[in-house]
Amino acid sequence: MYLTNEEEGIIEGEQGEVPARMFRLLVRLGDIYGADRMIPVGSVQVAGVSYKSIGDPGTEFLEDMAAKGAKVKVLTYLNPAGMDLEDWKTLGFPEDFAAKQLRIMDAFKKMDIIITATCTPYLAGNLPRFREHIAWSESSAVSFSNSVIGARTNREGGPSALAAAILGRTPDYGLHIDENRKPDMVIEVEAGLEYNADFGALGYYVGKQVKNKIPYFTGIGDANTDHLKALGAAMAASGAVALYHAEGLTPEAHLMDTQGLEVIPVTDNEIKETYAKLNTGTDPDIVILGCPHASLREIAALAKEVEGKSLKKPVWICTSRVMKEAANRMGFTDTIERAGGNVVADTCMVVSPIERMGFETTGVNTGKGANYLPGFCRQNVVFRNIHELVRRVTE
Ligand code: F3S
Repeated sequence: MYLTNEEEGIIEGEQGEVPARMFRLLVRLGDIYGADRMIPVGSVQVAGVSYKSIGDPGTEFLEDMAAKGAKVKVLTYLNPAGMDLEDWKTLGFPEDFAAKQLRIMDAFKKMDIIITATCTPYLAGNLPRFREHIAWSESSAVSFSNSVIGARTNREGGPSALAAAILGRTPDYGLHIDENRKPDMVIEVEAGLEYNADFGALGYYVGKQVKNKIPYFTGIGDANTDHLKALGAAMAASGAVALYHAEGLTPEAHLMDTQGLEVIPVTDNEIKETYAKLNTGTDPDIVILGCPHASLREIAALAKEVEGKSLKKPVWICTSRVMKEAANRMGFTDTIERAGGNVVADTCMVVSPIERMGFETTGVNTGKGANYLPGFCRQNVVFRNIHELVRRVTE
């Protein structure tokens, strides 16, 4: 790989031990994937934030980095933490868990990382531009930024994202390169899709079919950005889709030639079968919405859905702190709380320790959550749209 004089110097330790170590990691990664140079990144998003995911070894690693003076060079946000960083006590998060989580956040803060913990950084102040190179880790955010915004990122691991943040660079390979952003197949959607959950079911089904390839969608011309984030998150979870195109919707779609590509039709039948497959429970102990983290429109939809009702089971909607502030101001949080629900910031159903909090069956409207909850949180899943989920916990 070609390295500039400055980069050679970093490897030799001219900027200190941590940058040298992190740069060697990026060079190794670039060598594996055949990168010929490093490119600057405009922003970074680091995963591996919840104590549940990284445990004591990860916590100690981050504290060690912070103690050695590691600082990030570009705007860097975090993936969701394991709890609401302000209301964790009221929501019933365990004290021992909270203490560890707060140590992790402190270490990130010392590195100048913005401790906004969200999988929708693009809704919370970290919005890349079209064709900007970035290094993000969270798979749903990678999908959204590549596909809906047209920014460019590979799916980074926690350590490679942290390295990119500290160096402000990433190796130039994969989805940073035009040639690698072409579609591999066409997904012809004939199914009727209405709710975010329907787009999650579509994403789950397509992810299973295409694995880590690049699909080009036709037939979803009315999808809004919430639908697209649900679609991308589910495809990234059930497969490893980091980029998709959608005719008439995503910014690179019109540049792509789909002639001669395999066509995979998706009808109402496939969507119905996906709902059947993902539903492993019937009676939720808790309903958790907001995967990926809810937009203000999704919080408003829940407020409307529960207004004047009395919820018999906990209902959370997970979001970023920024969206929660806006929801507070608009009175949505009050409406949801009056019904017995909560707007929960900074965390989500998968990275929080819900299995330690007495829940066994979780109701969700997300294909990604439905994919991970059984394995990560030992949960049975009720996968439905928002309207049906609220009905199940109010009757
Ligand atoms: Fe975000 Fe958690 Fe879903 S990180 S995409 S809310 S599983």
